[in-house]
Amino acid sequence: MADYVVEFGKDGGRIEPDGRLDAPAFHRNHQAIWTVLGRFLEGKSGDVLETGSGTGQHVVHFARQSPDLMWWPSDLNEQHLRSVAAWRAHAQVPNVQPPLRIDLSDPNWASALREAGGPQQVLALFCANVIHIAPWRVAEGLFAGASALLRAEGRLFLYGPFKRGGKHTALSNAVFDSSLREGNPEWGVRDVCDLEKLAAGAGLVLTETIEMPANNLILVFARSAAGAGA
Ligand SMILES: C[S@@+](CC[C@H](N)C(=O)[O-])C[C@H]1O[C@@H](n2cnc3c(N)ncnc32)[C@H](O)[C@@H]1O
Repeated sequence: MADYVVEFGKDGGRIEPDGRLDAPAFHRNHQAIWTVLGRFLEGKSGDVLETGSGTGQHVVHFARQSPDLMWWPSDLNEQHLRSVAAWRAHAQVPNVQPPLRIDLSDPNWASALREAGGPQQVLALFCANVIHIAPWRVAEGLFAGASALLRAEGRLFLYGPFKRGGKHTALSNAVFDSSLREGNPEWGVRDVCDLEKLAAGAGLVLTETIEMPANNLILVFARSAAGAGA
């Protein structure tokens, strides 16, 4: 069953005195995710933005594996932002920036990020387990921002449960989807086809679909040839 945590720290999980939160899913998924991200990032330099960072455990772990990259975590939840800052301080990794407040539902978040001294362009944008626990406009904002920020050869990595061709890939994902929609009709497991359409409108194209443990996928988007100069 996919994990359904909207706010870490309110799920009965551990909270360290410095504010570090723990996401149980992190322990199960970070190695598999890094195998995919690392393949693309290895040997490269530049900035990597994470949106919806949650606890901050992923960004700290990934930054340790890639000292030549600068990682920029972000979220919109205050307690999560505190947790990211606390993990950053705890880990003492030099290539993680202080967390930024980014609300993906703001269509102008990428230009606001640039104006606030954030990265002007990014090699990669990583977003895990966010767009199904949020209204569709968050996915719209994510792709619009990726289109604005990705370098010509940059990639958007989207991790989570997804439908393919209108169908769930597992019964557990279908049950999860129903529970999400019962809680909030604007939420729900997204269909890869719908995301491809959204991507096309933003000058991006799906280049890889990677099957991950526990019926999750990583979707990799790049600039389409037509949108390469956008
Ligand atoms: C299920 S958690 C996933 C956290 C982390 N990426 C992980 O995989 O452990 C979803 C995250 O998305 C963030 N989020 C929800 N709506 C958002 C929005 N509009 N803009 C940015 N982040 C958002 C939440 O605050 C939360 O940290």
